[in-house]
Amino acid sequence: MLKVIGMISGTSFDAIEALAVELELDGERLTADLLAHSSTPYPEELRAALAVMLPPAATTLEQVCRADAAIGQHFALAAEETATAAFGEPADVIASHGQTVFHWVVGSRAMNTLQLGQAAFIAELTGSTVVHDLRVRDIAAGGQGAPLASLIDVLLLADGAAHVRGVLNLGGIANVTIIAPGRAPIAFDTGPANALIDAAISWRTQGRETYDRDGVTAARGTVDEPLFRALMAEPYYQLTPPKSTGKELFHLEYLRRHIGDREIATGDLLATLTAVSAQTVATALGGYGVTEVVAAGGGTRNPALMDAIAQRMPRARIVTTDTYGVAEAAKEALAMAVIGFLTVHGLPGVVASCTGARRAVVLGSIVPGLKPLTLSAGARSPSRLVVRTPLFATTASERA
Ligand SMILES: Nc1ncnc2c1ncn2[C@@H]1O[C@H](COP(=O)(O)OP(=O)(O)O)[C@@H](O)[C@H]1O
Ligand SMILES: [Mg+2]
Repeated sequence: MLKVIGMISGTSFDAIEALAVELELDGERLTADLLAHSSTPYPEELRAALAVMLPPAATTLEQVCRADAAIGQHFALAAEETATAAFGEPADVIASHGQTVFHWVVGSRAMNTLQLGQAAFIAELTGSTVVHDLRVRDIAAGGQGAPLASLIDVLLLADGAAHVRGVLNLGGIANVTIIAPGRAPIAFDTGPANALIDAAISWRTQGRETYDRDGVTAARGTVDEPLFRALMAEPYYQLTPPKSTGKELFHLEYLRRHIGDREIATGDLLATLTAVSAQTVATALGGYGVTEVVAAGGGTRNPALMDAIAQRMPRARIVTTDTYGVAEAAKEALAMAVIGFLTVHGLPGVVASCTGARRAVVLGSIVPGLKPLTLSAGARSPSRLVVRTPLFATTASERA
């Protein structure tokens, strides 16, 4: 058994999600006891510094160097606090995704991807072995380096159910994993979930608000059909999977380019962007005959978005990952924890049919901790993930 912390800050760069989990591999069964989840927002200065660096902005290597340190240090603090709260001692392994600052794709091919959050700071503060740079090895093997969470989607839900399931993550970008009986699973980014919604709200409130809390702004507007059609003409939606995208494409300037010189009220703008996210997700899932949607990520807390998806998928049952024992806010952090655990055992951390890689590679780079890890010999790749101790909604104090 290893005590593991999985950590990620997604493209929304709203908070560092950290999950403390005990993982135990017994034959082909990986058992998880989920102990604690924390969600730590970046300090305002760091969030602001990132906001002015991210695409399409130009940036300097000095800014990159500084952000790499600050992100690494904040991840280190989050890891230490979460490990102390859950384990009362340092974790054996910390798997840190860091912060994606650029995901370089050309058409359907991923060329490279850059996550910041210098792992040396994490190893030095905590003394734990740190696994980081989790995406790029998959890209080197011809994959998208995304969606990485498809690994645990498959391990958790490929249980022989007779219907087609779609696991959906609604972060800045929306991604899906399609699990169908008798077929290799596939996964891909569908397009924006919150990326354009967040960009529009920050723009129209001059940065006072960073997201459409509870979907209230979208709920008071109606869809602007010309803008909806213009946005839906995005060529990315027509690419065949595997494919991945990011905020290099779906940013405020992209949105303003599509609006042109038309005037659109804020409520109508948000209703339109919510409809675009819902439509692209529903088209992607519907195309595979999905009848159960298992959703996670911050977008599940936006009723306007969830209602818009449900309207477009009237025959599907829509639940969150909480139904399977994993708090929706902690799912991606669990994926990182599982990948880090597999990496230190020398085991692959991807499903090749999901990322599109030529082979399932062992992911990441390892920074040594204060002492060597003691691992059980002869570990084999798991065929399923069993959540023995579930973890549901994050506690209010952690969210505050
Ligand atoms: N109560 C809420 N109402 C509406 N949107 C929300 C709410 N809570 C979170 N979100 C959305 O979820 C996003 C964060 O989701 P998250 O899963 O952390 O995405 P990422 O992985 O990109 O960081 C926020 O930027 C916001 O758009
Ligand atoms: Mg987030």
